[in-house]
Amino acid sequence: MNKNYIKPFEWSIIEEGFDPENVEASESLFSIGNGSMGQRANFEEDYSGKTFQGSYIGGIYYPDKTRVGWWKNGYPEYFAKVLNAPNWIGIQIKINDTELDLNSCQVSNFRRELNMKEGWLSRSFQAILETGEEIQVETKRFISLEYNEIGAIEYAVKAINFSGEISFSPYIDAGIVNEDSNYDEYFWEILKIVNGQNNGCILSKTLKTAFHVATAMEVSFTLNDQKVAVAQQTEVEEKSLHYTYKLPVFKGDTAKIYKYGSCVSSLNYQKEDLIEAAFKNVKKAYNLGFSQLLESQKNSWSNIWHTADIIIEGDIRAQQGIRFNIFQLNQTYLGTDARLNIGPKGFTGEKYGGSTYWDTEAYCIPFYMATKDASVAKNLLMYRYNQLDKAIENAQKLGFKNGAALYPMVTMNGEECHNEWEITFEEIHRNGAMIYGIYNYVNYTQDFEYVPKFGLEVIIAVARFWHQRANFSEAKDQYVILGVTGPNEYENNINNNFYTNYLAKWCIQYAAECLDRVEQEFPEDYKRVMDKTKLTDEEIKEWLNVAENMYFPFSLEHNVYLQQDGFLDKELIPVAELSSFERPINQKWSWDRILRSCYIKQADVLQCMFFFENKFNKEDLERHFDFYEPLTVHESSLSPCVHSILAASIDRMPKAYEQYVRTSRLDLDDYNHEVHEGCHITSMAGTWMSIVQGFGGMRVWEDGKLTFNPQIPKEWKSYSFTINFRGNIIKIYKSQTDCKFFNESKNEVVMLVNEKEILIPANKSVTVQC
Ligand code: BGC
Repeated sequence: MNKNYIKPFEWSIIEEGFDPENVEASESLFSIGNGSMGQRANFEEDYSGKTFQGSYIGGIYYPDKTRVGWWKNGYPEYFAKVLNAPNWIGIQIKINDTELDLNSCQVSNFRRELNMKEGWLSRSFQAILETGEEIQVETKRFISLEYNEIGAIEYAVKAINFSGEISFSPYIDAGIVNEDSNYDEYFWEILKIVNGQNNGCILSKTLKTAFHVATAMEVSFTLNDQKVAVAQQTEVEEKSLHYTYKLPVFKGDTAKIYKYGSCVSSLNYQKEDLIEAAFKNVKKAYNLGFSQLLESQKNSWSNIWHTADIIIEGDIRAQQGIRFNIFQLNQTYLGTDARLNIGPKGFTGEKYGGSTYWDTEAYCIPFYMATKDASVAKNLLMYRYNQLDKAIENAQKLGFKNGAALYPMVTMNGEECHNEWEITFEEIHRNGAMIYGIYNYVNYTQDFEYVPKFGLEVIIAVARFWHQRANFSEAKDQYVILGVTGPNEYENNINNNFYTNYLAKWCIQYAAECLDRVEQEFPEDYKRVMDKTKLTDEEIKEWLNVAENMYFPFSLEHNVYLQQDGFLDKELIPVAELSSFERPINQKWSWDRILRSCYIKQADVLQCMFFFENKFNKEDLERHFDFYEPLTVHESSLSPCVHSILAASIDRMPKAYEQYVRTSRLDLDDYNHEVHEGCHITSMAGTWMSIVQGFGGMRVWEDGKLTFNPQIPKEWKSYSFTINFRGNIIKIYKSQTDCKFFNESKNEVVMLVNEKEILIPANKSVTVQC
């Protein structure tokens, strides 16, 4: 595909000119969603060129049986797939019986816009059909944030050079298949098709998981903006419902269809009530009308932007990049439902199955915590708390006991469901991220009560896992953790991954600290949790013995911790010496060659230094950065942001900026040549962190103090961001010369800026020279 075809605008993603080569990439980039459902930016009308159809509903998945050559005990039974759901957006268009298909007609003035400020997607173009008719098309669609089961489309066709007939065939298609399916199975069963006057509904059910989904539509028409009633022809097929409406037009007339859609599921309704609920939704949408729905959409987005926006002056591409990231994160997850989570591709594609990864705790929680009310991050923690029993079962399946929990690397409902053992499943480090998420949340919000009420049980179960997973090495006279994959997936089944061992030790120590504090401050909860988990002082002592005697691979020669045992046996040739033809190595090299090489897919030792920066001094950070950065290929979207943040904290602003640009426009500029598969949603939270934690230097460690160490790339005039810190809205504006802190709240706020304490009274601002 062509790179860099997205026009730089502050608030919009814009594509101008029609190029079939860009269709699939644009379908990802212009995706829309509302946290509960979402869809790729497929055209409403039929398109015979290359396209990847995708509509998704949060929480609706299918357990696709694992596909492996040689089954081994412990393999997950299935790989959960977010389901490509019935499509409600389709509208076939015919002009005097000739179908509108951008792949076969002459298209001009094509323009597509994703308006991030107001939350809608539009298209406009002129087309000359094979039969000579010329039309002007304008479309707009959105998925409502306020009415989160509703979507709306306005589709206008103007007859430019003919009088005749424009026909609209709105439909619901439930005959949908996943591109990504292990056995080419069909995942849906159609239960009922209901057709009405200008409205209709299909009730379908997922096979195996038996989720029921009702998808409804309601349509209305205008001719030259006057409402018109049009006769309906109905076609009920096995898996779809089509209506056709023919509008006679004179040259210059504009015919318009409004199509409202609704998806409701058995996650939120009794199965027998679904059809009625879906009909009610589309009727409500019809009654409110497109304009009113759009107004409410603008308001909802304006509220989101109030606390989430980042403004960059002097670099329009960077501005567009960061807003795109913030916009997509909000389209994916809004934090109102603790059963939902953030799939690495959100609602923009099928890859990664729409499941939950460690990405949530390691990357996304900081974003949601600082841009929304604390309840949102808490819901993300509750998601894991609610899955604790499954995590204990996962560990039991692998032979762990006594309530040890292993959280899944990939999950929909708490069960492990990835079908690659060495990569991914062996990444037991994710168990540590679960606890890191809690630690981060408690530091930032000071809501320690979460620990006694919920988190402690998770913390105990994870500490138990690490205690059992480590074994004593006589040879090393220390505890070791063998046979793992670290965050760097270009090394598999290695021993003593520094990051994993560090997290294991830290989790146990954090567990002991939390237990002490809960015992003192929440004695009743302490008793309840101790009774439930049957934890004894003896067992805690054993854990601590493992933690205190944990082994870490270290090189005296380089004075750095080693990523794993034996890392120095590799040929250490910097990435800079690889020819560009060999990159990305995951597309150019054999897996064997990758595993033997020294190349690091994503931050690994550096991931640890990022999480626990306060436990290392600046020289440590510099040495490790200088050792590992040159060997890192950043072939995971999660990598550049960590490098950017660390580079900023060791005052390497040019490097921090270089990595920032890469993370912020990863999808818009398609760095990894894969945006057609979907956008990298979870790494977008990393982009946000690169500004707030990287350039802004914001940290909140165990002492709970809000601290900043603001810097600015020389390429920018200024940047500003807003945080919700314990209910106080604070805006930070950094220019090349100073930094202003606006306290928009009713309370005074104390913070450390470049290690100096400053107090900002309620509704006042303070400027610091830096
Ligand atoms: C990364 C993992 C990540 C997953 C989903 C992989 O490419 O290596 O760390 O969890 O993508 O984002």
